[in-house]
Amino acid sequence: MRFGCAWYPEQWDESRWPEDLRLMRDAGMNVVRVAEFAWSRLEPEEGRYDLDWLERAVDLAGRHGLSVVLGTPTAAPPAWMTHRYPDTLLVRDDGRPATHGNRCHFSPTSARYRDFCRQIAEQMAQRLGGNPHVIGWQIDNEYNAVSYDEDTRLKFHDFLKARYETLDALNARWTTAYWSQTYDDWAQIPLPVGSHHPALMLEFRRFLTRVYIDYQRVQIDAIRQHSDRFITHNFMGWFDLFDHYAVAKDLDFASWDSYGERGHVDYVKNGAAHDVVRGFAGKNFWVMETQPGAVNWSAINNAPNRGELKTMAWHAIGHGADAILYWQWRSAPSGQEQYHGTVVGPDGAPRPVYGEIQELGRELARCADHLAATSIVADCAVVHSYEDRWALNFQRHHQDFDPVAHLGSFYRALRSDLSAVDIVPPSSVLSQYRLVVAPHLHILDDATALRFDAYVRAGGHLVLGPRSGMKDHDSALLPSRQPGPLSAALGAHVEEYYALQSSVGLEPAGEARIWAEWLAVDVEGTEIILRYGASNGWLDGQPAVVTRRHGSGRITYVGAWLDDATMKRLAKQWIAESGIPSVAVPEGVELCRRVGPRGDVFICINHTPHPKTVELAVPVRDLLSGQTCRGQVALAGYGVAVLVAV
Ligand code: GAL
Repeated sequence: MRFGCAWYPEQWDESRWPEDLRLMRDAGMNVVRVAEFAWSRLEPEEGRYDLDWLERAVDLAGRHGLSVVLGTPTAAPPAWMTHRYPDTLLVRDDGRPATHGNRCHFSPTSARYRDFCRQIAEQMAQRLGGNPHVIGWQIDNEYNAVSYDEDTRLKFHDFLKARYETLDALNARWTTAYWSQTYDDWAQIPLPVGSHHPALMLEFRRFLTRVYIDYQRVQIDAIRQHSDRFITHNFMGWFDLFDHYAVAKDLDFASWDSYGERGHVDYVKNGAAHDVVRGFAGKNFWVMETQPGAVNWSAINNAPNRGELKTMAWHAIGHGADAILYWQWRSAPSGQEQYHGTVVGPDGAPRPVYGEIQELGRELARCADHLAATSIVADCAVVHSYEDRWALNFQRHHQDFDPVAHLGSFYRALRSDLSAVDIVPPSSVLSQYRLVVAPHLHILDDATALRFDAYVRAGGHLVLGPRSGMKDHDSALLPSRQPGPLSAALGAHVEEYYALQSSVGLEPAGEARIWAEWLAVDVEGTEIILRYGASNGWLDGQPAVVTRRHGSGRITYVGAWLDDATMKRLAKQWIAESGIPSVAVPEGVELCRRVGPRGDVFICINHTPHPKTVELAVPVRDLLSGQTCRGQVALAGYGVAVLVAV
């Protein structure tokens, strides 16, 4: 386990560094991330590099027992660059260039900018890539910049040309006869600003994915020539500007920055965010940043309660995190983030949370051997695709149809009964799961449908949610009723869909909200699980959830956004029928399992400030308290137990 913080030696007099590092080590930390915004100190003028200070900081960290992750500073280009080369500056969607000084003010498509990035990454890697204290690299910081400059527009045209080859093909696949959008010159195609043609918007997201793959690749290639240490990037959880699966392919593992807006996290929501990040590269991940106190960017920057930081950290570990790093060690005296929570105060002395962090450091050390080489193994997967999310968000049809919240309604029900759930892209190997739930498989091509069909035939249980099988890869409506190529397997189709103004009752019990589809059964053998009660006349008495055996497996279609209790009831049934062992913990308590060579490690977390008791079938030892528990584990408010078999 790695444990540490973001440290900015460039903001402090060197005479202070030893004290910072001593305090970190005393807190049990073993890693620091440095330099990810330090470009103006690393290259004070064009082509003049000063890496001496960074090398001294890295070596000093190493002498204090701390390993180092080097961040490339490319999220914050220096003023000399943006001033001398305005073409490196980001242009906003209203056509105005960004002003210097708020970071991320660069155009990720600019060839000149990428060249500057390559050079600084190369300089850092040459100098420090083999340094014994450097364990890895973070490329840039939270990719999010989009530039609407002319060069980007031309590159978007090249991207479209490569995909469609001819304008005739593009015009046909986008039905551009609609609203006179027919293009007879590639140069006529705009960058989408605000709401636009859904195919154009979808392609723009695919283009941005390509932009970030290439942008990142330049730096990876530069580093790889001189360094064999890991390379990662700190993503932003559910953020959906680009396809994270595609961008994470070139990384050794994914990292993310996990923050709770109002000081507390909804642990199910945040657990899903950990799980989605674990899916980016299909392996354990790092929490590269998390808060040691309040954030500074929320409406009310409430701090986590006493004891809560530890539950947040163990929660991340329970979902597959191999590192927890606090952002940040100490506030810069000036600048935009003076109010953000830190580990030490403006005087350089520990803040009240320091003791809690220190205790966490001790706990991690105590569990390190047991956690080594452990990972999350799940029998149930929730399918998540950026393309589906983009397409749904472009045309929600009901303002509240937020695809992430919709996915969450399935995830929440499943996770409360399971010790692990994977969140994976539709391209992943389905046969490793006994239960696959696709909350909205909206864009569905024939090849993907065949893979899902084969999964069911071979014995899997596939659950599809509403809005599945509706569009093709070009965002065109399929010339069939939902779920399109999977309706034959289901033996049912969607007769009509309705955005709901108010909830509709379900028979024998439950409620549909936001979205309801009237399902029609096509063959004998398709069972109706739920029907709509009285509603708009159209839905009254019609099937809402159906299921059918298909080959050796089962396919189920949920045609509505269900209330939590109904979803939970159905999820319990799917889990039981799939033969997946379920867990029983009190409300507010979470059980996570990491599987490894020394056996399973169960992390049991009380997310509430009240004491809770968990019933156990087998005796276990709590690595944190050292006690053996028979029959029960008692958890204090925000308490955690890390359990292994005795
Ligand atoms: C992150 C960012 C950090 C810091 C932090 C504050 O998004 O990567 O540099 O700004 O937010 O919460």
